[in-house]
Amino acid sequence: MTYLLALDQGTSSSRSIVFDEHGRIRAMAQREFRQHYPRPGWVEHDPMEIWHSQLETAREALQRAGLQAGDIRSIGITNQRETTLVWDRRTGRPIHPAIVWQDRRAEPLCAQLREAGHGDWVRERTGLVIDAYFSATKIRWLLDEVPGARAAAERGELAFGTVDSWLLWQLTGGRVHATDVSNAARTLLLDIRTQRWDAELLALFDIPASLLPEVRPSSHVFGETLPELLGAAIPVGGMAGDQQSALFGQACLSPGQAKNTYGTGCFMLMHAGERFRASENGLVTTSACRTGGAQAPEFALEGSVFIGGAVVQWLRDGLRAIESSHEVQALAASVPDAGGVLMVPAFTGLGAPYWDADARGTIVGLTRGTTMAHIARAALESIAFQSAALLQAMSRDAVAAGGEPVSELRVDGGACVNDLLMQFQADLLGIPVLRPKVIETTALGAAFLAGLSAGVWRDPAELSALWQADRVFHPTLPRERAQERMAQWERAVRQACAR
Ligand code: G3P
Repeated sequence: MTYLLALDQGTSSSRSIVFDEHGRIRAMAQREFRQHYPRPGWVEHDPMEIWHSQLETAREALQRAGLQAGDIRSIGITNQRETTLVWDRRTGRPIHPAIVWQDRRAEPLCAQLREAGHGDWVRERTGLVIDAYFSATKIRWLLDEVPGARAAAERGELAFGTVDSWLLWQLTGGRVHATDVSNAARTLLLDIRTQRWDAELLALFDIPASLLPEVRPSSHVFGETLPELLGAAIPVGGMAGDQQSALFGQACLSPGQAKNTYGTGCFMLMHAGERFRASENGLVTTSACRTGGAQAPEFALEGSVFIGGAVVQWLRDGLRAIESSHEVQALAASVPDAGGVLMVPAFTGLGAPYWDADARGTIVGLTRGTTMAHIARAALESIAFQSAALLQAMSRDAVAAGGEPVSELRVDGGACVNDLLMQFQADLLGIPVLRPKVIETTALGAAFLAGLSAGVWRDPAELSALWQADRVFHPTLPRERAQERMAQWERAVRQACAR
């Protein structure tokens, strides 16, 4: 049997999963790590804690699988994207804590650049909007604010990386400084059409090119781990940002295939083929995983819901309506419907396709008969409504590009185990919702990428055969009724935005 090790470095925990050549999970280990909020709107991670927690879980997963390092053919890395690290090339020491993707400190600089009219050309070249979410202005902040950083960067002494590059650097003992196209596409510094760093973008954000890692395909032998870390040298054969990795792990390899990951937030991606197009419906365009240097670049449309599963946490911690998150399904199912209640959980504004940073949470349709069960049901439904709005935007973009509307949705992430939510999602969308046997698709994508470069599988088509649905949720609601529900939702969104 052949085994692959996926390192899945997420926002709240580091996980390692051992897969076999059939894409089945053999063992798993996970460690949460600390979140730091030094000021309102700031979010940081300790880079060394990221690395150590990741390494510990890798060792633990091997041990639980009863395997030695020599049994692992290749390692795949997948990671929280955009999170920005800068370290000293000689000592390997970070010059500052990692600035996490959620961190808003660079917003004033982004606003200046948008007001100066740079938004359109940057979007044409990167597929992204100028926003503090992405890495470029976080790097700029580090160079401007950490004493001595800019001079050191100009002398070529510093290295920038997203979490993939940081882990690769550590695993290879500082021998390899590289990233893959799917991570590089989240920095605002990559021309995603050519998949190269772009001199004009670097000039705009005032970032020296000497900081940057090499950009490689996602399935590629990046280097070998230091033997002392895991017991033997293992090739690192794949790297991808977690959302693109999940798209790959869901075997969404052809234009129009889409997945939604239901986590704290939701991330929906649709494969958009080989032609780059900026979205006309408020989505961003990003680089899909690339499986080899000779293969043409492939793109994906992406939209995210800021408050997905987090709305259930709010029911638990804010409203104290439930004691633990898994109780939500029973409470919501105790009523036949939400009784006309709609909740727009715009706690931190609304993302795609609405883009209203000032929108705030809103509950409409309360009557004297409304109970906590109706509110719980409306909260769950809000996750599906927001995702449906994203999918509709994607379908509109797909049709505008001469393609077909999305015909099925593959789902993963913690909340996809909630049957009530998945059924409602299918009802709203009017297309089947497919839950796979392996819902750890982010890690599976990384294992697929590593296995491809190691020759475990010949080509991506072989991976499609490994993907299996566990359950398909078919729409049961008449289309007119679903459209009415979406229209009610859009009215509630307008109320959330009208502040
Ligand atoms: O863009 C941010 C995303 O990559 C974070 O994903 O799963 O770590 O919250 P996650």
